[in-house]
Amino acid sequence: MLRYYTAGESHGKALVALIDGFPAGVPLNVERIDAELRRRQGGYGRGGRQQIEADHVEILSGVWRGRSLGSPIALLTPNQDYKIERMDDLPCPRPGHGDLNGSLKYLGSIRGVLERASARETAARVAAGALVRSMLDAFGIDVFGYVVEVGPIAVAPRPGPIADQRSLRDRSVLYTLDPDRDAEFKQLVDETRRQGDTLGGVIEVRVEGLPFGLGSHTQWDRKLDGRLAQAAMSVQAIKGVEIGLGFEAARRPGSQVHDPIGFDPAAVDSPTLGFVRPTNHAGGLEAGMTNAQPLVLRAAMKPIATLAQPLDSVRLDTKQPDKASYERSDVCAVAAASCVLENVVALEIAAAMIDKFGGDSLTEMRARWRLFHDLARGKS
Ligand SMILES: Cc1cc2nc3c(=O)[nH]c(=O)nc-3n(C[C@H](O)[C@H](O)[C@H](O)COP(=O)(O)O)c2cc1C
Repeated sequence: MLRYYTAGESHGKALVALIDGFPAGVPLNVERIDAELRRRQGGYGRGGRQQIEADHVEILSGVWRGRSLGSPIALLTPNQDYKIERMDDLPCPRPGHGDLNGSLKYLGSIRGVLERASARETAARVAAGALVRSMLDAFGIDVFGYVVEVGPIAVAPRPGPIADQRSLRDRSVLYTLDPDRDAEFKQLVDETRRQGDTLGGVIEVRVEGLPFGLGSHTQWDRKLDGRLAQAAMSVQAIKGVEIGLGFEAARRPGSQVHDPIGFDPAAVDSPTLGFVRPTNHAGGLEAGMTNAQPLVLRAAMKPIATLAQPLDSVRLDTKQPDKASYERSDVCAVAAASCVLENVVALEIAAAMIDKFGGDSLTEMRARWRLFHDLARGKS
């Protein structure tokens, strides 16, 4: 069973991820993890923090000579902006943050809550996700996240192979598939910043190369759609998740929602086993299990809650009305969030792969992967 946890405060010494249950023999490299951490720091509309940090991961355990050992892997990402001991508390809770409810719940300070609630924590999740993707590579599974809406502006879908889409996304300042519209997005972000306001957006994550049968219909907490929804919703500021057609499915009759099933003997050796679906409205999941079609998940990110033109709040000491406190903040972090979503989805896919083909080593997993496909094709 693959499990992971993170630790660390936004302005503490470091972020830590602990990954347990990862198979032995997976080739790992720090550069790949650092590249994802750099992507998480990017995107137009970020605050001053990203100029201070240059995230770099250190692998503390579980790896020997560039390969995983099967033992727990600890990842450390130091904070350059380590200053928590010198920081004051905030007097007025910010609407949209855990400042009010968290400080009351823990009978403590706002600082004590915001430091951990902060999305700085996602650096640890991205590091963990980037690490497990080396295992997904060995099975030809590719996870790809990008931005489809920023505030009121949507980007038209651009069907095509992930490799082409990735090069478009990586040219775009907001990680969309349409870098030609960057100027329009930058103008929107700049105008919003001038007004002391913030923006959210919509992110799509697609996973290709999946086999049949990741997840299970047999128990609520084994359903992959449910696990993905939890992983996505647990990302800071994500307020909605849909798979495939999602909410749109509720508005259509069944005949325009469900994906017909066909068979193409020429494709029998692929992970689809030859089963073809002319549409993929289900987004790759039926009854909590993958159906060998691309997995498509969308997540809605609310606008950043720390406003330079703050909303009304009250001072916690006097209970008198005041404006919410302000701390250095992003105006739009939807691009960074798309990188986070990509990596938390990768973690759930890796966990489901280990559940299905689990073994102590990558070699054993690959043997079981081949055996499963042979059995499913009726060859063994
Ligand atoms: C990549 C990323 C960056 C974020 N940056 C900020 C930020 O600079 N300022 C801020 O107030 N919220 C930021 N957030 C969102 C808050 O962390 C989040 O809204 C807050 O912790 C409350 O949690 P909730 O929105 O999930 O309810 C960011 C979220 C993500 C995913």
